[in-house]
Amino acid sequence: MPSNETLTLTVQRFHPQRQPNTLSMSYTVPKTKTLLQALTHIKRTQDPTLTFNAGCNASVCGSCAVRVNGREVLACAYTPQEGDLIEPLRYATVLKDLVVDASHTTTLNARAHNASHGHKEEMQSIDAAHAITRQSDCILCSACYSACPVLAVNSDFLGPFALTRSWRYIADSREADTSSIMQSIQTNGIWDCTLCGECTTVCPQHIDPKNDIMMLQGKAGILGYTNPKFGGGMSFDGGFGTPDFGVPSF
Ligand code: SF4
Ligand code: SF4
Ligand code: FES
Repeated sequence: MPSNETLTLTVQRFHPQRQPNTLSMSYTVPKTKTLLQALTHIKRTQDPTLTFNAGCNASVCGSCAVRVNGREVLACAYTPQEGDLIEPLRYATVLKDLVVDASHTTTLNARAHNASHGHKEEMQSIDAAHAITRQSDCILCSACYSACPVLAVNSDFLGPFALTRSWRYIADSREADTSSIMQSIQTNGIWDCTLCGECTTVCPQHIDPKNDIMMLQGKAGILGYTNPKFGGGMSFDGGFGTPDFGVPSF
């Protein structure tokens, strides 16, 4: 029974070997500062089978992201409220309860060729370094990926964290060759983003993937790439948008 000292939380449970394999379970817990403390209390005192991920308890490792009432949060940073519904992140295979397979983070960054492909031997200005500082703070929590509505209709979309990391390299003045990254994000990448900003809203690191994707679109236009949805060519017979310069050679 809820009181001034307790909360009732509902957790979406999943067990791959049970039928039915999903189940909503409610728990009454003492009020805690963080959801992670509440989940830990449940596991220690009421249900040792409850499974969730956590590491640093300090918003650093990115492993504890879940959805609360449909909104992505870090369990170690969110203060639970009466009646909260806790669910696993979307668009990743649920392994058990609130734990999802996070291997997509590696796969997507590899697909985007997100890595250094050679450094220029030159000093970087403080302004140029600051331009990529925020993106470098990504903790790969996947909150933005789970919040992205495009993934609901296109599971091949690279998604916000991978594209933010692409901008981190493409905007890095020290990088010698970012052509393979730019090429890799043309299909199911920058042009598939609707710029809705859901990713930016939920990011616990205050990264702005929506803005980074807009920057990538602008840079792509300068390099001669075009949005395939708009067709190519600026003409007076129905074409519009950025002229089609073809795929550039680097
Ligand atoms: S801005 Fe783009 S990447 Fe971010 S949630 Fe919306 S569609 Fe997804
Ligand atoms: S961009 Fe933000 S929300 Fe997305 S994975 Fe990185 S830290 Fe998490
Ligand atoms: S436990 Fe590391 S971010 Fe929450």
